[in-house]
Amino acid sequence: MQPNLTEEELKCLAAYLDGWADTADALRMRQYIQHGCVTTYEHCMRVAAISFWLNRRLNLGCDEASLVRGAFLHDFYLYDWHEPHPEAGLHGFSHPAIALANAEQRYTLNDRERNVIRSHMWPLTLLTPPRCREAAVVCVADKMSSATETLFERQRMIPAAQTSGRN
Ligand SMILES: [Fe+2]
Ligand SMILES: [Fe+2]
Repeated sequence: MQPNLTEEELKCLAAYLDGWADTADALRMRQYIQHGCVTTYEHCMRVAAISFWLNRRLNLGCDEASLVRGAFLHDFYLYDWHEPHPEAGLHGFSHPAIALANAEQRYTLNDRERNVIRSHMWPLTLLTPPRCREAAVVCVADKMSSATETLFERQRMIPAAQTSGRN
């Protein structure tokens, strides 16, 4: 899904991510596939946009800068999770802490942004629940985005040779 944002809202979203989503390390997320045919960078951008859209449309009262920046960094773990990474443990459980450690090394975060990143897999990570409204919104937006990417955005993963001749 892509949220329906106005031109003004798209500019506002880009302004919050200026200096955050355009660094060399942030752009590394373009190398990795998150779900289906969607890169981690695209996924993080989409979760940021959905979170922003939910907050504006439902008047949730989030701090928008923290919401958008935390959402963008929520999967900043910087590896291909499809490859084995025994040192990282089970990806679903371990990657929020890895993403947070990576983000702490490269950005100055506030407590809301930290909680957004650390809690986004809840309830899988039972002991790290969302503790602010920004984290709760990103937790929901991530699941909305992941579900549609997994279910409906698999097409580019199928080699053309396998699809030719199909109805
Ligand atoms: Fe994640
Ligand atoms: Fe995610």
